[in-house]
Formats: sequence, structure tokens, C-alpha cells
Amino acid sequence: MKQKSNQILMLLQAWLIDILKNIMFSSELRKKFLIFFAQRNHTIVASSSLLPNDATVLFTTAGMQQFKDYYVDKVSPFGPRVASIQKCFRTSDIEEVGDNRHLTFLEMLGNFSFGDYFKKEAISWAFEFLTKELRLPLSRIWITVFKGEKGIPEDKESRQIWLSLGIPEERIRVSGFEDNFWGPTGKEGPCGPTTEIHIDLRGKACEKGKDCQPNCSCERFIEVWNLVFNEYYKNEKGEFTLLNKKGVDTGMGLERLAMVVQNKNSVFETDIFHSLIEKVRSSAKNQENLERNSRIVVDHLRGIAFIAAEDILPSNVGQGYILRRLIRRVLRYLNLLNLSREIVLVLFKEISRFYSSYYPEISQKEAQVIEVFEKEASRFEKNLQKGLIHFNKLISEKRVISGREAFRLYDTFGFPLEMTLELAKEKGIKVEVADFYKAFKEHQTISRAGAHRKFGGVGIDQIKNEEERIKATKLHSATHLLQAALRAILGNQIRQEGSDITPERLRFDFNYPRPLTKEELATVENLVNEKIKEDLEVKREEMTYEEAINSGALAFFKEKYPPKVSVYSMGNFKTKPPLIFSKEICAGPHVQRTSEIGKFKILKQESLGTGLRRLKATVF
Ligand code: SER
Repeated sequence: MKQKSNQILMLLQAWLIDILKNIMFSSELRKKFLIFFAQRNHTIVASSSLLPNDATVLFTTAGMQQFKDYYVDKVSPFGPRVASIQKCFRTSDIEEVGDNRHLTFLEMLGNFSFGDYFKKEAISWAFEFLTKELRLPLSRIWITVFKGEKGIPEDKESRQIWLSLGIPEERIRVSGFEDNFWGPTGKEGPCGPTTEIHIDLRGKACEKGKDCQPNCSCERFIEVWNLVFNEYYKNEKGEFTLLNKKGVDTGMGLERLAMVVQNKNSVFETDIFHSLIEKVRSSAKNQENLERNSRIVVDHLRGIAFIAAEDILPSNVGQGYILRRLIRRVLRYLNLLNLSREIVLVLFKEISRFYSSYYPEISQKEAQVIEVFEKEASRFEKNLQKGLIHFNKLISEKRVISGREAFRLYDTFGFPLEMTLELAKEKGIKVEVADFYKAFKEHQTISRAGAHRKFGGVGIDQIKNEEERIKATKLHSATHLLQAALRAILGNQIRQEGSDITPERLRFDFNYPRPLTKEELATVENLVNEKIKEDLEVKREEMTYEEAINSGALAFFKEKYPPKVSVYSMGNFKTKPPLIFSKEICAGPHVQRTSEIGKFKILKQESLGTGLRRLKATVF
């Protein structure tokens, strides 16, 4: 009790000091940003989901993702100037978390132009916003611009604009593709040179002297705003062509901006994280690596809340695997801090309170998030202890962990490969990663033999009676339409979790956190029937697994795919571009046109435990 009131007092004190110093809270930064761009004729667009409509990426990683097509051929329904605050998740940064600036989940402030304004306005407004609205001193601002590389010319124009705004020559540095070229997100798309705004946190060079510049490893600088000038389109083969209309895409991390404006030493000291991190720090019973370990816990819990609120469940693939990795990492770091799991509930509640007015889904789904966490945690916690004992035994015997042993840690104890790698790195031990994948594949081949029988192809081919075989084929095609209809109505997070077809009925299992209402069931059923009536063509193509995924085909998890897969699309191929309703990697067989299916009817809905639902349906 005493500890709690001390903690409240400390927070209150920190908050009062911030108020007295006239510190801008993150809520004010959000407001200022949106108003600034609204005043410059930008339409304010809400954040899109963390799950993008783009099969080539797992999560939304940038503000421009929901606007990607408007840089190319589609006309923006919001007009040519847009601003937003976008929920983003960057899997590439999971292992970077722990320093003073990296995060997995973050909010990105961005302004965008689709064929409207270009470099001059984008740069001048960014400058005005930082120096006038937020009153950041000019002396702390450093700039980087694209130096020209691989046939793409140097960005002299941006340099000139910065000079004209008063940034001295020596604070404008150049870099190549690595730091000053952005995109595309996924395999293809709009991209272009960037100019970045970095803030000098120390005002003093490290031992590198003049070479101490933005991106220096001494962490004197922090990048806050990235202005991308989309002038090119990069295709799947990696070739660049000039875009017809030029665009602007800017991104500024809210948390980093808060760190700079509030004069803090890390994003975790800002009003966004402060009370969370304080709670972890003050309850931790083991102080070793306290700072880093607490940062990882609070960053990951926030990420977990946002991912689980999108109805993702922990699994061994895709977004579900990332969720699983985050939860298992949190447990490991709580363990290192010698903290029990109870604190997680307090932290989740605080996270939902903090975000309730910006992302109401977080508080609406608080119970679901907690349940997802608790279930996964209960499953893993015991294994974590046993697995750590096993791991320590392994490394007491030798300095290398073989692929097979890493696979055993994964398969028996639930250690994601990344966790084994991290543990091994801490102890200076090597892991034979290539062999891990070999063991993984061998295992998949064995389980596939069992799984495959249930899905389409093999099962249907084994039905001897011709009439029954035709019926099962129709049900199989109806299953594809059903999955597409569920995704169209309930959202793209819907994934096939299982399927079984007999000549009488289809059975389809998928992830969804609650029972479908009567209306939802009727809408799904109607949509399938509509697509049957439209007499869509069913087309089969062969391609590599990668090509299939890149073209947006759905794949069923847990499968091991041969080098060439067949992809079934159902749609209208006469229009340009074709209007495809369903596209899946599948062994077939299928009908040739959807009208052959007949009439589709949902028979029954069942629950398979939290988050999983089953539909049974038939055709006649
Ligand atoms: N797309 C760029 C980024 O994410 C700018 O918004 O950094």
C-alpha cells in the first residue's frame, strides 16, 4: 500500500514538473499536427487497421500503406491532400527494443500528397511545424538528403529548399539508398528519395568529430521525420520507372516526437509510457538490466494489446506467430525481472485507458486481449521453465546448438527460434539455423500426410461414386466462396483454421472472437449465393509459392508446399483489371464456373473454444 502511494506521488510529481515546464503532452502533439495540416487543406483520415490489405506484408508499417494505390492509378476519395495518425507495427524492430528509441508498435503522424504539392511545400511545412508550432530550436535540426545512386540522381532540390529555410550547409548531410530512399512496402509499389529530419540530442560530437552526423552509432541524433518523395515505381523484378504523378509521403513517430519535445532521454520517459514503465521498474525484484528489460515488457504489451484487438490469435504462422513471439518474450522478461504475471493485467488496463479516446477498440476488447494473453501464457509458462533448464543443460555440454536441438526447443518447449537465438547470443553460443529449418520441414512433411487428406484434392479424388464426387467438388468450390465472403464481411483477418468436406456437407473452421449474428450469417450466405449467380469463371494457374502469395492468394497454414503450386481464382476475368472474388492456393478439384454449385445454405454455427468458430453448410 505504502509502495503504491509512493509511486502515485512520484508520478504526480513528474506530471506537475512537466506542467510547470510547459511540456507538450502527446495528446497536444496529435491535435497540433492534425490542425496544422487541416488548415493547409488536408483531409484528416482515420488510421486503418494494423492488418493491411496487402498479402506481401504482415502488418501496416507506415502511414502511406492505406493510400498506396493513390500514388499509382487510383483516385483518392479523400482528395489529393491527406493527413493521418496511423497505427503501425514493425516486426523488424522486435529485437531492437530496449534502447532509448526503438518500438514495435508506434503511431505515425503523416501528411500525404497524391499528385498535388511536392518538395517545396512538404519541406517548408515540416520545418514550420517543428520550429513554430512545437518551438524546437533551429540549432538542433539536422537534415539528410539523397546523394544519388544506381542511376537515380542526387536530390539537389531538397538541399536548396533546406538552405533557403536557414539550415546551414554543414548540417545537411547526404546518404544513399540505405538511409535516404524509401519503399516500396511489400514487393512492389511507389517509392522514392527521402529527406530526413534528425534532432541533435546532445549538441556535441563524439570522438568521430566532424563525422559524427545523423545515424552516428553514438546516438547523438534521433530521426524524427521522414519525408518521402514518391517519384518512382519499383516492380517485382526490381526495376524503377517514373510515376506519372509525383507524390509526398511523410512519417513522424509520435513517440519519438514526444521524446524530443518533452526533452526526455528515451521514448519510455514520455507521457505515453512513463507510468507503465514506472510500475514495472518499481515492482521488479531483480534489478539487473532493469532498464532494458522493463522497456521490452511495456513495449511488447502495448503491441500485444493492439494486435490481439485485431482478433489475431497466437499461432505458428504469420501475424499469429508474431503475437505468440511477443507474449512468450514478455514472459521471459518478466521472469528475468522476477515479476509475476499479475502485473500484466494492471498494465493492460492502463494501456486501454490511455488509448480509449483514440482507439476505442483497445478498451472495448480489453477482456479479449487479457484472455488471449492469459491462455497463451498459461500454456507456455511451465514450458519456459523446463525449456530453460533444458537449454542450460545443452550449453553446459557444448558451444553449438544443432538445428535438431533448436527444433526440439521449439516443438517440445514452445521456444520460438528467435528466442533460442537470443538466449544463445547472450551466452556467446552458435545455433545451426539452416539445420533448424531442415528439421522443421521434415516435420511438416510428416504432419502434412495426415492433414492433406482432409482438404480438397486428395479426399475428393478418393470418392469412388461419381455423383458423390461431383457434389463434393461443388462443396469444395463453395468453401472457397465462403472464405472470401467471410473475409469480405468480417474482415481480412479471417483465416482458415481447418476444413473438411464430405459428399453431404462442408465444414469450415476460422478465427473469430464471437458468434456471428443471424444477420451476419444471412449476409454471408447471400453473398455466396450472389457470387454463384454471377457465374464467375474458375481459373487455375501454376506458379511458385512466392508468386502465389505475392499475387494475393490465400494459403492454408501448416502446409508444406511443393516448388510449384496451383492457384484457383474465381472472378470476372473479362474486366480490366479482372475482378477477383476469391484466390487460394489449392490442389483442387473445382467446378469450372460458380453457377454449377447450385444453391448454398449455412446449416449450423458452432464454437470451438475461444476465438475459433465452425460453420457447416451445404449446396443443393
Ligand atoms: N513511409 C515513410 C516511413 O514510414 C514515411 O512515411 O518512414
